[in-house]
Amino acid sequence: MRYLQVKPAGAFDLRCDAIAPDKSISHRCAIFSLLSDRPSRVVNYLKAEDTLNTLAIVQQLGAEVQEREGIMTITPPKTPQEPDDVLDCGNSGTAMRLFCGFLASLPGHYVLTGDRYLRKRPMKRVTAPLSQIGAKLDGREEGNLAPLCIRGHRLRAFNYESPIASAQVKSAMILAALRSDGVCTYKEPELSRDHTERMLRGMGANIESWETITIEPLRGPLEPLDIRVPADPSSAFFFAVAAAIVPGGRVVIENVTLNPTRIEAYEVLKRMGARVELVEKENRYEPIGDIVVTHGGALQGVEVSERIAWLIDELPALSIAMAVAKGRSVVKNAGELRVKESDRIACVVEGLRRCGIEATEREDGYEIEGGEIGSAEIDSCGDHRIAMSFAIAGLLAEMKITDIDCIETSFPNFLEILEKIAKIRTWKEGEA
Ligand code: S3P
Repeated sequence: MRYLQVKPAGAFDLRCDAIAPDKSISHRCAIFSLLSDRPSRVVNYLKAEDTLNTLAIVQQLGAEVQEREGIMTITPPKTPQEPDDVLDCGNSGTAMRLFCGFLASLPGHYVLTGDRYLRKRPMKRVTAPLSQIGAKLDGREEGNLAPLCIRGHRLRAFNYESPIASAQVKSAMILAALRSDGVCTYKEPELSRDHTERMLRGMGANIESWETITIEPLRGPLEPLDIRVPADPSSAFFFAVAAAIVPGGRVVIENVTLNPTRIEAYEVLKRMGARVELVEKENRYEPIGDIVVTHGGALQGVEVSERIAWLIDELPALSIAMAVAKGRSVVKNAGELRVKESDRIACVVEGLRRCGIEATEREDGYEIEGGEIGSAEIDSCGDHRIAMSFAIAGLLAEMKITDIDCIETSFPNFLEILEKIAKIRTWKEGEA
């Protein structure tokens, strides 16, 4: 286990072209490459634990992966092969849920497992609708918990109305629909991130999205992907918050996806008083450009209760901005936070209280009374976003964070970038 100490910093002006590549898009690059019969070309694939696990699974299914001069080539097998070992998704809910949808119709026997955190996360949200259309899936607690086993089977066409706005559930069902026996429809209560629809459409799949998504089954292999993965706005957001809370702070984040379903947290930061500028530079599968965030004076408290799916991953970092804002901030309708890599409602509230901030847990969110962040020792709860959020709080008051290895799941060079604006120290258990 590793520890991190972060000491307060002064004003900074950071230009960053090294934010981790997008995690959601990288997972999809690896999995969707199996839907073509020709090699996909991927530049800037995220080399973090979660997405490397996904790539390893794709290889276990028969794909060949090569990288030359920064270009990764994923050559799919003629037909995916039945693996002779379990498929380990590590910490990644995205990988596990998307593979459920992908493998459900593929002849063969598959076992999906993950680390101790992932094995506690609910999978019924995908195993139940998939079972309803003929998939043979099982797991602990009646198919809710991994390890999950899948016996590929013919799937029936469906009209599914999901009770949750989840891109993982949606993507699993779209992948299932592509190999079902007829046209399918999928409806969600609120649009969730739409990388799957955009990327598959770019590969030639027949997917229409209005209020409802209509998916036609594949008639043959799709076009391969040819993509440069943009920077991850969720990873970049830690530095956006840093700029918003440190007087004289400014960050330029380059080549990040500006997909509206991913950048709502930047809008909230703007509402709180930070200066946020978005500059679109290109559009390939998604709009891509630069985001500039500048400290705009004292932040104001804010209520966040809408478009939660568009900022769910940024809420822990946003809670640090809320903790230093004037007045009360409220987060509502965000019960999904309880089933992320950790119970993020409990971990955020506990962490903020340790920093001397008044924070109250609600069933579906929390309330934070802005104040002055004090020095604290924080447990990451094994959750990368909790670890990185409180590391950013360390720019205002010295923080010690326990168990930072989880940062490797999404943002391996986070500390290198943080080091440019703060004094940091890391050490292993047993070292001084
Ligand atoms: C993701 C979807 C979201 C998000 C997760 C990545 C994806 O999860 O929180 O980090 O890549 O599809 P849900 O689908 O559970 O909302």
